[in-house]
Amino acid sequence: VMINEQDTDFDRECNQEWQRDIFKKWKKSPTDKPDIIPTQIGSKTVVNDSSYKYYDRSQDEDVEICEMSKANADQVEEIVKIAAADPGHWRDTTIEERHKIMYDAANRMGNLRGDLIGAMCAITGKTVVEGDVEVSEGIDYCRFYTTSMKKFYALKDVDIKAKGTVLVISPWNFPCAIPCGGVVAGLASGNTVILKPASVAAPVAWLFAKAFWDAGVPKEALQVIITEHDALDKLTQAPEIKHIILTGGTDTAQSILRAKPTTPLSAETGGKNAIICTASADMDHAIMSACHSAFSNAGQKCSACSLFLVERSVYEREDFREKLRDCATSMKVGGVWNAGNVVGPMITNHNEKLLHAINNLEPGESWLVPPHFVDKKSYILAPSVKMGVSPQNYSFRTELFGPMLSVAPFDTLEEAINLVNGLDYGLTSGIQTLDENERHLWRDSIMAGNLYINRGITGAIVNRQPFGGMKLSAFGPGIKAGGPNYCQQFTIITDKAGSK
Ligand code: SER
Repeated sequence: VMINEQDTDFDRECNQEWQRDIFKKWKKSPTDKPDIIPTQIGSKTVVNDSSYKYYDRSQDEDVEICEMSKANADQVEEIVKIAAADPGHWRDTTIEERHKIMYDAANRMGNLRGDLIGAMCAITGKTVVEGDVEVSEGIDYCRFYTTSMKKFYALKDVDIKAKGTVLVISPWNFPCAIPCGGVVAGLASGNTVILKPASVAAPVAWLFAKAFWDAGVPKEALQVIITEHDALDKLTQAPEIKHIILTGGTDTAQSILRAKPTTPLSAETGGKNAIICTASADMDHAIMSACHSAFSNAGQKCSACSLFLVERSVYEREDFREKLRDCATSMKVGGVWNAGNVVGPMITNHNEKLLHAINNLEPGESWLVPPHFVDKKSYILAPSVKMGVSPQNYSFRTELFGPMLSVAPFDTLEEAINLVNGLDYGLTSGIQTLDENERHLWRDSIMAGNLYINRGITGAIVNRQPFGGMKLSAFGPGIKAGGPNYCQQFTIITDKAGSK
């Protein structure tokens, strides 16, 4: 039995009060002294001159929240050696011990929920609700992966050993859930772990790492660092690293593979995800699903809906356009310190691909909802909807990672499926239809990792919707994260019968 962790019900007055306390603590003012996060080298910490500074994107003034020290190349070497030597003997623990520790870490992470949410709001511009679900997902990984490993270790006819040291490289857009998933996968399978979170969001990982250390994971078995640029290659190419888990850009996966093709890499990368809406769909429901999947977390999800392919008879209806416009413009936009806002700041104000798409219209394209920034620093972009986007156009084919939805008509479901399958990526995909035959046709022929029928296409739940892609969205064995077999890839399995 796996009970997924409950998200917070912010409709309850007591939770709204709690949320106001989080804001009080994490909305810093320009006069607050920023916290300094050190570089961790096993059980020691040092503060280097070179650091990454974190600013609040929801405030117009430059408010610094914290700084994190970056490891240099020599320190990276030491960090890797410590992980390989495992002085805390993590690799000698039994799965029962690790199971107990991970359940304890899950509870401790629950106690840190408010601070994790606050850190995500301040550092990455996540809304409270989006931050909250990430903490639940992180907790789910702690319980689910160790439970699945326990079942795996119970197999009688195999010997299971950890590979050694796993390097986890995680993204900024899910700064709690995704690094946490990688860390637990590595630790639960008995490996020591080095976590290199995206620098721009790393303090969130530093915060949740405390839950693991306090639960009994030795500091040498879980090191959380950011690095100077030249030190990063040293880290990814170190021979002591026996497996790399990457969630990030397709180009990052490709460059790691080029530099170190012999180290196993399990990567979940980009997406260009579509929802197909046929004439048999509940149109209002389809519009809401597309908008929520396109604009939540300001569109910065690898799983986000970026294309809305709509059967022509619906696409041409005036009420379809009106409802789509209303839905997109109803999403409240602004800084995260106003809890009513659902579309907050983006991580960067110079996402070139997004800027290209919002500043250019190709022949046939027009704005149903034109883009506009709502803040002085151009971090907060209101949802925009571009119509008439042809399959060869930039906005149709490029992962934009921002709150812009491209809409295009199609004439037959087969045509729409071919359009989706013709994209470079294959991560999430959705269909909106009340016709069972259409659903079957789509399900049997669509090329994407996670398929969703008559709902949004983001927010996979651990165990219930294992997450992963195909084509340029995934590299490595393609075992889905949050699924029962994920952790096995970080072990060496010997068949007892075969070894006799
Ligand atoms: N797992 C996330 C989702 O399903 C994306 O990383 O939206």
